[in-house]
Amino acid sequence: MRRPILAGNWKMYKSASEAQAFAELLLPQIDSGLLVDIVIAAPFTALDRLGRALGGSVVSLAAQNLNAEPEGAFTGEISASMLSELSCRYAIVGHSERRALYGETSADVSRKAKALQRAGIRPIVCVGESLEERDQGLTLEIVGAALEQSLSGVEAGDGSALVVAYEPVWAIGTGRNATPEIAQEVHAFIRESLDKQFGAVAESIRIQYGGSVNPANAASLMAQPDIDGALVGGASLEADSFAALINFVAQSAGQETP
Ligand code: PGA
Repeated sequence: MRRPILAGNWKMYKSASEAQAFAELLLPQIDSGLLVDIVIAAPFTALDRLGRALGGSVVSLAAQNLNAEPEGAFTGEISASMLSELSCRYAIVGHSERRALYGETSADVSRKAKALQRAGIRPIVCVGESLEERDQGLTLEIVGAALEQSLSGVEAGDGSALVVAYEPVWAIGTGRNATPEIAQEVHAFIRESLDKQFGAVAESIRIQYGGSVNPANAASLMAQPDIDGALVGGASLEADSFAALINFVAQSAGQETP
């Protein structure tokens, strides 16, 4: 039984003070006994303050990117050990915005994921196809290749050392999300691919769905056998809607919520 993982990806939203205010609104709405892992991926500048505001709660801190090198003359960059010192437990790597806007390749993603694991941080490795690729029937080919290259040399450990996020690019920030059946088909394919790379432990690796997830559509997505949580952009920016999502996912994990 995989423990669901719900991660908010704030992208370039929220200053440090806004992040603290969010935590103060969110935490009273969350039951500390939830059987769901909750994560917030905040901008670098908000991590320290958000980490302090979340301290001791069930919500884990995450980054949205990093540089794969341990240190050096890389102006403007942030290393895995810097994130680890701020108590980041996760970091997103290979988000489609980074791939499309900053030219990140799957080889870069693999280097970043390995750097995170060396620092004791779990990578959330994102893969997904564009609308054009889906229309051409290339979804599984594109996702399979990105997954294989992005996870090259990455460890699975007991299954909790990494998280995979399937995010169809056409569903991100568009309000158009994949139907649960479409998402499940790709998730099942991803799990098969993980099985080829890691063996039986693939059954324990969480695969999140991402792309216009909100409190109204979360339950039907989470009901799919290979969907183990969500990576959420827009609906994670308001404390009330993120709390509602957390409660939906907790309910679908068979748990009472406050
Ligand atoms: P969205 O973003 O929920 O706003 O579609 C998801 C993501 O980019 O991770």
